[in-house]
Amino acid sequence: MALVIMKQILDEATKSNYGVGAFNVNNMEQIQGIMKAAKEVQSPVIVQASRGALKYTSMYYIKHMVAAAVEDNPDIPIALHLDHGNSLQTCKEAIALGFTSVMIDGSLKEDSKTPTAFDENVEITKAVVEYAHRFGVTVEGELGTLGGIEDGVGSGIVKLTDPDEAARFIKLTGVDALALAIGTSHGAYKFKAQPTLAMDIISAVKSKCPATPLVMHGSSSVPPELIDIINEYGGRLEHTMGVPIAAIQEAIKLGVKKINVDTDGRLAMTGAIRKFFAENPSEFDPRTYFGAAREAVYRVVRGKMIDFGSAGHARDYEPISLEEAKMYYN
Ligand code: G3H
Ligand code: 13P
Ligand code: ZN
Repeated sequence: MALVIMKQILDEATKSNYGVGAFNVNNMEQIQGIMKAAKEVQSPVIVQASRGALKYTSMYYIKHMVAAAVEDNPDIPIALHLDHGNSLQTCKEAIALGFTSVMIDGSLKEDSKTPTAFDENVEITKAVVEYAHRFGVTVEGELGTLGGIEDGVGSGIVKLTDPDEAARFIKLTGVDALALAIGTSHGAYKFKAQPTLAMDIISAVKSKCPATPLVMHGSSSVPPELIDIINEYGGRLEHTMGVPIAAIQEAIKLGVKKINVDTDGRLAMTGAIRKFFAENPSEFDPRTYFGAAREAVYRVVRGKMIDFGSAGHARDYEPISLEEAKMYYN
């Protein structure tokens, strides 16, 4: 199976009402951990790379490592997605590299910090949609801004999505999927107590635009047991609350179909490596500690594939090719 377009993965998830995890990757062990989980529970999967990931891996490594994942897992639908693209140019580069999906985060200016006005967001998103659809590539847009700042990305200002604006945005831009701001934020420090997310925004957008799969960024649950492992073995992370799985499951029922997770994978890897070194102080073969990290990613992702309901859906459909997708759009 070749890489699958994200639109198909999300449309199929809409048909059968489950959510698909979109997991951030920066190295081989993350990709392998995710793929081990997908294979074992037979789940479709979205593998996503941020601009930071593309820089870290000098782009070609992501492309070829994900190509290896496809070759190694011919029965699993895998989409390769650009996370938080900041310009038409970045999206063009990802498409040229073979990504089957791109996000243009027009909620922020190209500096990935300054919030944009509605019209500016429409303009850049529309330009990316026009370009990407010529190649059959899926486009995710974002309206509203999340809190939290990761690696200098994000304004730190929260602006929840206005459902009427979201409906206008979808119509004006032609995006395939839309990320909403409903109160989540990126990173490990999301909430001090049990959060209340604006689920009504999901329902309102869904009722206005039933065919558009919705996306939830900042969906890590920041499980206390992962923080505990890190702290037990010398780390110093504050205990905070992430997005509870029950809230994600409710969001999925209401219309969210793509669930972005990065932080939980980072926590899992860090804890595994810290624990490994504490227990094996004389070990220096990287395969041993990266192997432990890879297993930790596998365990976290496997749990999410089951919790989001995507487990068991890998063989529900035959993938459509980029060529067929091109014809659909043009
Ligand atoms: O949206 C943010 C993701 O967690 C990616 O983070 O830019 O540090 O790779 P990054
Ligand atoms: P977390 O930081 O909650 O994992 O969110 C990741 C994300 O939204 C990537 O786009
Ligand atoms: Zn995000």
